[in-house]
Amino acid sequence: MAQVYCLGSLNLDFVYQVDSIVSPGQTIKSLEVQTHLGGKGGNQSIALARAGANVSHIGSIGADGIELRRNLESNGVNVQFVRVGEVRTGHAIIQVQRSGQNAIIVEAGANGSISEELIRTALETAEPEDWLLAQNETNLVPWAIEYAKKRGVRIAYNPSPFDAETVTAVLPYLDLIILNETEGRDLTGESDPLLIIKGVRGRAPRLDIALTLGGDGAYLASNEETYFQPAQKVTAVDTTGAGDTFLGYLLGSLTRGIDKKNALERASRAAAVCVTRRGAAASIPLAVEIDS
Ligand code: RIB
Repeated sequence: MAQVYCLGSLNLDFVYQVDSIVSPGQTIKSLEVQTHLGGKGGNQSIALARAGANVSHIGSIGADGIELRRNLESNGVNVQFVRVGEVRTGHAIIQVQRSGQNAIIVEAGANGSISEELIRTALETAEPEDWLLAQNETNLVPWAIEYAKKRGVRIAYNPSPFDAETVTAVLPYLDLIILNETEGRDLTGESDPLLIIKGVRGRAPRLDIALTLGGDGAYLASNEETYFQPAQKVTAVDTTGAGDTFLGYLLGSLTRGIDKKNALERASRAAAVCVTRRGAAASIPLAVEIDS
């Protein structure tokens, strides 16, 4: 089975429950605060592993974030390429309002101190059927993508947090992009999902595109076919990590040889379970919950 190398962030998430997300100039009270394990990269590695994929995480933490590495390991992720250095672990300030909707600020911390050497070492034994997965919460994303592509590795990319310059730099190297409707609008200027897909395809014709629409479902489009999966109706308590869960289950299912339509359906089911639970990494369902 193909290996997924996830170059990604590992964050401590400080999660504040609020009545509604703070507006500019406003001061609000938090109803409750909790610390969770998160980071888009770490969440995606765990979702991949829970979906049944072989995953190696490439990342960086400080001594204050050892629990993040332990958690990856206990979920079956290879942590050989997670370095512990001098820089403090990255963190996120997350507001979650009663509807489950969130707003997130990330501080890169150690996620910004990954070395080219570490990425080179991790990809030393990568084969052409393997994948490099990246998001925008670490340094060296364009460099790593270009390097991995030159080695013949397939590339999956989640342009989150959105950064137009990075997306433009990496688009020519991608095999799969997984984005939400806000990122799709920022990238193409369109808000209709099919026009977003058309807009992305116009810029990268060979690319497979997974577009998530929250409670309105998700698309998976390749040159040959476009699948749409409506979202399961659930009561959301916290949407944090739902996109990461979707991505991990989608790519994880594809690496296990599950066809695109069923991989999309499985990913949507996993994301629906995730939003019914609080936290990021902790809210990612196990395969047994999804497949039974
Ligand atoms: O996608 C959710 C994640 O975004 C959180 O866990 C937070 O750490 C930020 O990276």
